[in-house]
Amino acid sequence: MELVKKYGPSSRDGKVATYIPELAKVSPDGIGICVRRQDSLYCAGDANVKFTMQSVSKPIVLILALMDWGMDKIFEKVGKEPTGDPFNSMIRLETYEKHKPFNPMINAGAISIAALIKGDSPAHKIERLLAFMRKIAHNPSIEIDRRVYQSEKETGHRNRSIAHFLRAMENLDQDPNDVLEVYFSQCSVSLTCSDLANMAMVLALDGKSYETGEQLFPREYAKIAKAYMVTCGMYDGSGEFAIQVGIPAKSGVGGGIMGVAPGRMGIGVYGPALDSKGNSVVGIKMLKDLSDTYDLNIF
Ligand code: DON
Repeated sequence: MELVKKYGPSSRDGKVATYIPELAKVSPDGIGICVRRQDSLYCAGDANVKFTMQSVSKPIVLILALMDWGMDKIFEKVGKEPTGDPFNSMIRLETYEKHKPFNPMINAGAISIAALIKGDSPAHKIERLLAFMRKIAHNPSIEIDRRVYQSEKETGHRNRSIAHFLRAMENLDQDPNDVLEVYFSQCSVSLTCSDLANMAMVLALDGKSYETGEQLFPREYAKIAKAYMVTCGMYDGSGEFAIQVGIPAKSGVGGGIMGVAPGRMGIGVYGPALDSKGNSVVGIKMLKDLSDTYDLNIF
C-alpha cells in the first residue's frame, strides 16, 4: 500500500496510449500492484482493475510456440538480439539477415511468432492461447476484451504493414490477416495485476505451478523467455531498466508490467500512464523500489 501512495502522483509524468483509441479511454491515475510468493499473494491499489495484456503477452505466446515447434524453428524465424529501436519499428526488417525480426519482443518478431501457434483456424489458435494463459495465471476466467480487439483491428495499420512485409519476405507462410487476428487477440487479453503476478511466479519457478508443483512448460523455455525479457522486455528502455531494477520484465502499452524475481516472487504492476518508450511510469518506479527493498537485482 505504501508503494501505491508513494508513487501514485508520478502517473502525472506519463501519458496513456492513444494510438489504439480504446486504450485512450482509461484513467491515467490508475496504480496497482500484486506480489505472488509460493504461498501468498499480496495486492494493493487497483489490483482488481482489468487492463489488456498488450505486449506482456509476447513471452507467453513465445513459450507456447516453443512448445508447438521446438527451438530450431523459432530461431529460424526470429533473432536473439535487442534492437535499441521502438517496439513498432520496421526499419531493421529491410536490412537484417534474411529479413528476420531481431527478437520476439518487438512487434515484428511477435507477429512471426503468432503465426507459429498451431491450430486449424485463427479461432482455434486463439482458443489454445487463451487456455495456456489461463493455466499459467491459475485463472480459468481470463477472456479477451472485444472492444480493445476491435479498436486495434481497425487502427493497426502499422502492424498490418509489418505483417504484409514479413509475408513478402517469406518469413510468414500464411495469410497476414489470419496471423494478425491471433496477434491482435493476444494483445487484447484482459486481466489484472494478480494474473500477471501469478504468471510471473510460474516463470520465477522455471515453468512450475506454485500451487501444484506441476511443470506447466519446459524449464529451458522459461529460461529463453526470461533471457529475452532481460535483454528486450522493456524495448529501448531495457538497458536502463536492467541497471535500475535488474530483473526479467515485460511491459505492455495497456500499462501492465510482469516482473520475475527468479526463484522468489512474481510481480504484476499496473499504471496506464506511459513514458516515451511505452513503459508504465509508476510500474517501473514500484518495481525499482521493490527490487531495492528486497534485493531482487539478479546481476
Ligand atoms: O502492437 C501493438 O502496437 C500493441 N498491441 C502492443 C504494443 C505494446 O504493448 C508495446 N509495449 N510497450
